Amino acid sequence: MRLDLSNSVSLNELKSYQEEVSRIHKMINEKSGAGNDYLGWADWPIEYNKEEVDRMIECAKYVRDNFDILVVCGIGGSYLGARAALEAINGLYSNDRLEVIFMGQTFSPNYIAQVLEYLKGKKFAINVISKSGTTTETSISFRLLKELLVSQIGKEGAKKAIFATTDKEKGALKSECVKEGYETFTLPGDIGGRYSVLTPVGLFPLACAGIDIKRMLEGAKQARSDFQDDRLENNICYQYACSRDYFYRHNKCVELYVTYEPQYAQISEWLKQLFGESEGKEKKGLLPDSVTFSTDLHSLGQFVQDGTPLLFETILTVKKPRYDVKVPHDEEDLDGLNYLEGKSLNFVNSKAFEGTLKAHVEDGHVPCNVIEVEEMNDYNLGYLFYFFMRACGMSAYMLDINPFNQPGVEIYKRNMFHLLGKKGY
Ligand code: PA5
Repeated sequence: MRLDLSNSVSLNELKSYQEEVSRIHKMINEKSGAGNDYLGWADWPIEYNKEEVDRMIECAKYVRDNFDILVVCGIGGSYLGARAALEAINGLYSNDRLEVIFMGQTFSPNYIAQVLEYLKGKKFAINVISKSGTTTETSISFRLLKELLVSQIGKEGAKKAIFATTDKEKGALKSECVKEGYETFTLPGDIGGRYSVLTPVGLFPLACAGIDIKRMLEGAKQARSDFQDDRLENNICYQYACSRDYFYRHNKCVELYVTYEPQYAQISEWLKQLFGESEGKEKKGLLPDSVTFSTDLHSLGQFVQDGTPLLFETILTVKKPRYDVKVPHDEEDLDGLNYLEGKSLNFVNSKAFEGTLKAHVEDGHVPCNVIEVEEMNDYNLGYLFYFFMRACGMSAYMLDINPFNQPGVEIYKRNMFHLLGKKGY
């Protein structure tokens, strides 16, 4: 993986951050900063429970052998990472024999009714994921999914088709797991939702989808080791974190995550939660937003090029796509495309990227960080997830806030529960 800052901010300009970076690096390693009881993700790639990983792989095999669909039921940190990884690696129209679909991330009656209708008569298993075990979106969906499952395969059959990922000891879901005997995986107490993609929260659905989760953890382990050197010139993770802070202090208020592949759009969604929920506190923080180019060059591209100068870009490019397609010859050339004949779409896409980068940097004066990954696979994605989580911890601490809580999300829930008539609200 490579971080190219040549179109954003020079290392020289970031040099003054070194002391601050070393201080925070030590704080993360020693788990001594604000929210320190949620720093379990930092050493997770070397501390994870290997037996649990083996059990997940075994259960995933059982799911693949016995079901056609896995419904992953969760929201926020209990949903976005698995979806991001699944789409990034397997693509949007995967022909894998197990289909993975998502529920539990919405109250939408349209969405839920259609998923339930789609599942009728099909062989499906459920992976319900909730750390608290009480999240309303997830609980309602889980209740509905269970009802359908029991109506199709009976209560005893359903018990063997339900896999739960939740807290080790607390919460309503945990109690249900104990009572019903569901196969259960643990979400460690010291890892919050948005930092949990490399725990069973992300790993079990990914294993079910045929992804090599041990390789993913290997990638994360390599990243953890690479980012132990806190010297800025050697640490791309901290360079990226500093660039964010630098732009924040130079009047930028939006970080725009850019990809050139629709199948990476969910990585941007995961990033939006990671950075938005970690940093958006005490009236501080960059607003994370995202686009998929070239699609969005035909919509938001105008604003990025020419609108209020409030943003900088962080672009994720992947050098080798898994598939490629060539532009065919056409005798009549009515569409005038024969000048591209024989060229691959990866070539066209990369020229769109280069041309856009030049336009945004040189004409639009939009700073652009570029993160380049050789190819999107389990190992590199594990590396990338760890890179972003560590960068997020670093840059949130630079703002002097707790990166691991989310006090702001409780207020709407209180109002909603009151309006729904929940006891105690
Ligand atoms: O990052 C977070 O903490 C949140 O997004 C949670 O993951 C989300 O609210 C789901 O919570 P739970 O896993 O308790 O159902």
